Amino acid sequence: MKLDDVSADLEEVLLTEDQIHERLAELSRQIEKDYEGETPLLVGVLKGAVMVMADLAKELRMPIEMDWMAVSSYGSGTQSSGVVRILKDLDTDLIGRRVLIVEDIIDSGLTLSWLLANLRSRGAKSVDILALLRKPDAAKVDVEVKYVGFEIPSRFVVGYGLDYAERYRNLRGVAVLAPHVYA
Ligand code: XMP
Ligand code: MG
Repeated sequence: MKLDDVSADLEEVLLTEDQIHERLAELSRQIEKDYEGETPLLVGVLKGAVMVMADLAKELRMPIEMDWMAVSSYGSGTQSSGVVRILKDLDTDLIGRRVLIVEDIIDSGLTLSWLLANLRSRGAKSVDILALLRKPDAAKVDVEVKYVGFEIPSRFVVGYGLDYAERYRNLRGVAVLAPHVYA
């Protein structure tokens, strides 16, 4: 779905698909250097990271493996609490592996901070994070994100994997949702 197809639902376009692809290509060149001669395991966090994972994986000029986790963070409404439950766990043994967590967005950072500790406890050689988007609040939590696509303002965004009530995940870009959509 193109940004133009739902322009009435969007308040402001933050990123086009071309801008995202260009940035993922830059990050890929960095990743290829950082993991030279190795086969990292990319762990995508469902469902939001599906688009980032697919485009990043295709862009990378090196062997990788992919696995997926689904987690839900308990909390009231849109605030995550940091209490996380695993809905779908990895199929892969992490012992000795170099792991790269692939996320759509880091907001409070609580989800990723929990995930990082969880995966590190499984005997991985290294665990790092790539997040396509980072909101300013993430700075408050001590979670190092090695690869960041874009810094964005603290507003609710949709598209490129990110949803509002499961919609807009298939949008070719990232945009701020118009208030009338919530009403
Ligand atoms: P924390 O706060 O733990 O949570 O970093 C990150 C998760 O919160 C969701 N999230 C969003 N989802 N638009 C969305 O569609 C947003 O603007 C947004 N901000 C946070 C998302 O699930 C992410 O993994
Ligand atoms: Mg997510």
